[in-house]
Amino acid sequence: MRPAGLVLIVAVAAASGAHAQKFDGLAATPPMGWNSWNHVGCDVTEAVIRETADAMVATGMRDAGYVYVVIDDCWHGERGADGKIQPDPERFPSGMKALADYVHAKGLKLGIYSDAGWETCGGRPGSRGHEYQDALTYAAWGIDYLKYDWCATEGLNAEGAYQTMGRALAAAGRPVVFSLCEWGDNRPWEWGPAIGHLWRTTGDIAPCWDCEVDHGDWSSWGVLRILDMQDGLRIHAGPDHWNDPDMMEIGNGMSASEDRAHFSMWAMLAAPLIAGNDLRTMSESTRAILINDEVIAVDQDPLGIQGFKYRSDGDLEIWFKPLAGEDWAMCVLNRGEAPRQVVLDWQAELVADDLADREALFKARLYRVRDLWTGEILGTTRRKLSAEVPGHNVLMVRLIRLLDAQD
Ligand code: GLA
Repeated sequence: MRPAGLVLIVAVAAASGAHAQKFDGLAATPPMGWNSWNHVGCDVTEAVIRETADAMVATGMRDAGYVYVVIDDCWHGERGADGKIQPDPERFPSGMKALADYVHAKGLKLGIYSDAGWETCGGRPGSRGHEYQDALTYAAWGIDYLKYDWCATEGLNAEGAYQTMGRALAAAGRPVVFSLCEWGDNRPWEWGPAIGHLWRTTGDIAPCWDCEVDHGDWSSWGVLRILDMQDGLRIHAGPDHWNDPDMMEIGNGMSASEDRAHFSMWAMLAAPLIAGNDLRTMSESTRAILINDEVIAVDQDPLGIQGFKYRSDGDLEIWFKPLAGEDWAMCVLNRGEAPRQVVLDWQAELVADDLADREALFKARLYRVRDLWTGEILGTTRRKLSAEVPGHNVLMVRLIRLLDAQD
């Protein structure tokens, strides 16, 4: 007869094995960094990555919290005779290990891109059938973040394919943030939390306010379109498992007010803040948006609760996000072109969130209202807020809890 103790040990080992695939604690708040795709596309080189790492430090991006420098598609060369993936020797002549050393020496982390299928979306070698080998290669290079795409995966099961790479990363042993880029096709918010730290909820973003860009058999989407696609998903997000509405398009051609609104809404969504513009040449206005520390603090709030749409009235939407302690963030989004007047009588509002189990209780509690784009104090919640929100722009405030109001 088999001793009962042995059965128990085997059962415990199997159970912990099932969880061993994800590196916990790497994304307690939404990951922040830069990714090559939105601006550089397939023209990524080691020079671009080095210069971007330099710019992340020089522009203050690193100090604002942007840590990951992620090389997206098209870095790949061929697989060697032993199946080992090589970087393109012309674009990355020094090799990935040297590049990782360079990036690490700047106090940054290096990310890379692969695909669950046979080919990446750019037609480079995918990881299908090479998952464990690729994970070991990335670990040897010193890679800290993997974005894993979903092209050329016909016939594959999404959860299984992502689980295989997750297990391969765990087996390789180097802590890696695992970013699932499956476009929301197979409801990754339902199975992604056990496997990765973030999952794309939609198709690709485009640098426009409210457009659909038709690419033939697929479309990319403007900021408002992507925002609307997040509806209903907030219950799935939290520390170490985030909805990813895609990399940012700030500095890629929209107006400054559209960029400001885009950044504000990504913060309200507790979205990963992955810049997608050219950091080497960005304007001062773009830089100021990306490093606004009070908006970043809303995104990075340790409570880790994604915000919600509280009310809408035509083009005007009012969003709230509960923050750690007793504070709240509020963002009034004007989707239209014409300026809109917003009047908020806090005392008449009932802001509650079941997910965070919180109520703002404006009748019993007093908050200071701080504009996060001007730094101005707009009074307290004792008196009405009245403001004009220009077209394609936001009013974003933090409600800072003060001493209890006396009725
Ligand atoms: C897909 C992804 C993008 C980008 C490209 C690269 O479209 O969704 O974010 O990685 O592939 O080819």
